[in-house]
Amino acid sequence: MAASYFLLAAFLAMVTSQAIASDPGPLQDFCVADIHSPVKVNGFVCKDPMAVNADDFFKAANLDKPMDTKKSKVGSNVTLINVMQLPGLNTLGISLARIDYAPLGQNPPHTHPRATEILTVLEGTLYVGFVTSNPNKLFAKVLNKGDVFVFPQGLIHFQFNPVYDKPAVAIAALSSQNPGAITIANAVFGSKPPISDDVLAKAFQVQKGTIDWLQAQFWENNHN
Ligand SMILES: *[C@@H]1O[C@H](CO)[C@@H](O)[C@H](O)[C@H]1NC(C)=O
Repeated sequence: MAASYFLLAAFLAMVTSQAIASDPGPLQDFCVADIHSPVKVNGFVCKDPMAVNADDFFKAANLDKPMDTKKSKVGSNVTLINVMQLPGLNTLGISLARIDYAPLGQNPPHTHPRATEILTVLEGTLYVGFVTSNPNKLFAKVLNKGDVFVFPQGLIHFQFNPVYDKPAVAIAALSSQNPGAITIANAVFGSKPPISDDVLAKAFQVQKGTIDWLQAQFWENNHN
């Protein structure tokens, strides 16, 4: 008897301690972020609901306008609409991005630690893919205007415009108010302070000089 209670308790502990794989659900109709509140919580504290108005759920984001991709070394420009840009998104578990790709531009391999992403191509062509956790299998596809692709939460993914004379545009929806973005090359070679080149030389199976050269590059962000 005691043993079966123990097993039940162990089972309950297992199923109830699982991490929730997306933003927690709201406990009220809305909780517009009070971005400047000194109170720190998971997300943002709510602005007084009586002071909330339609503009808290609105952003004149000009997402219909092409963004400049010429300054970016990787040839892309990501415009995020997350809780920082649109406080009404707080606790709602969703956000948006417009991504512009220069001819032969790319959004380099990156992950969103807190969101699945669904991407729609509005203009042009994109070669996109993601890689699973071990074993590292690549799922990749060429998308054309109107096509939709989903990148599962947390997995490394990329988009590349393979066309040399036409830009591409996509809109992505993400299942978090604050998806986060870890660009792999930037995080590994551009962290401040840098990761020891002893670590990276062994990890990447190259000479330390190769790592030093990579670490000396300017790892810019393609996000606004
Ligand atoms: C993206 O485009 C905007 C406007 O076109 C520009 O101001 C901004 O610097 C660009 N961002 C990047 C990361 O290239």
